[in-house]
Amino acid sequence: MELKVKIGKLKLRNPIICASGTFGSSDELKGLADYASIGAVTAKTITLNPCPGNCPPRIYETGCGVINSVGLEGKGLENFIAEDLPRLSKVKTEFILSIGGFSINEYKTMVKRLSQEKAVEAIELNLSCPNIKRKKIISQSRKDTYETIKILRGLTKKTLIAKITPEVTDIKEIAVAACAAGADAISTVNTFFGLAVNIQTGAPYLGNCYGGYSGRAIKPMALYRVWKVSRAVKIPVIGGGGIETADDALEFIIAGATAISLGTVNFIDPAASVKILRGIKNYLKKKKINNINQLRGSLDA
Ligand SMILES: Cc1cc2nc3c(=O)[nH]c(=O)nc-3n(C[C@H](O)[C@H](O)[C@H](O)COP(=O)(O)O)c2cc1C
Repeated sequence: MELKVKIGKLKLRNPIICASGTFGSSDELKGLADYASIGAVTAKTITLNPCPGNCPPRIYETGCGVINSVGLEGKGLENFIAEDLPRLSKVKTEFILSIGGFSINEYKTMVKRLSQEKAVEAIELNLSCPNIKRKKIISQSRKDTYETIKILRGLTKKTLIAKITPEVTDIKEIAVAACAAGADAISTVNTFFGLAVNIQTGAPYLGNCYGGYSGRAIKPMALYRVWKVSRAVKIPVIGGGGIETADDALEFIIAGATAISLGTVNFIDPAASVKILRGIKNYLKKKKINNINQLRGSLDA
């Protein structure tokens, strides 16, 4: 059975990707998860300079998802390169490095620097973080998306993935702009905006007031957007949002995703990827499909 998929130049042994911010930055989950059965891990978004993230509380759990306002907490690019990058080659999966800039110059510096590193194969441009104070998220504007990716494309030959927000009127337009600017793949969805209020105090539960909503609740909305994007662009789409089971993952593939990303489910069960992969294999066997790529975009609509 053929499970291999390609995202730009990146070859994955199977279509399962653990999403940024939910699976550490290198090998933190060894002992809890079997890296050898995961297609790729997207590391937590890296910023140019060390960043403390947002003030606590940063996680609020709802009945069917999570609102987080972690922000882009991290040690900064040079510390990541010195401490984490050497460890990645020892982990038995592919790594995608996610970067987030507070300005276009920061994105440029990071892309240039990571391009010099042989160990880096693919860069995910986080153009969609809901938790940083900025007038507008880059991928909420077609023009900003196009211009940002166009500049960064000129700086690297590494695989560039554009992670775009679902919080737009027409996500298809943003994906088309990303593709026209030279992105090798689209990753969607990032979280939706969410708010939770403590009615006793009248204050928001999260220290940063609002956050990004993820998990089971967003699945139908995410799936719809992945379907729309997949039909609009010819580059691969990494689709996710609320995937918890193999059936969920298969829905995204049938809707057009080349690979699927698992986020919040990793907090419920760090071994979810293994179970989801097993379920996908069983389905393909039952349906007598010997190549996962045959299933992609087969939605009968
Ligand atoms: C606690 C937490 C932290 C996250 N941090 C990042 C991040 O640093 N960069 C990023 O691109 N997405 C981040 N995300 C978004 C996930 O990668 C994913 O796109 C989103 O949660 C939707 O998928 P899910 O419903 O499967 O969780 C984060 C999500 C959560 C729950």
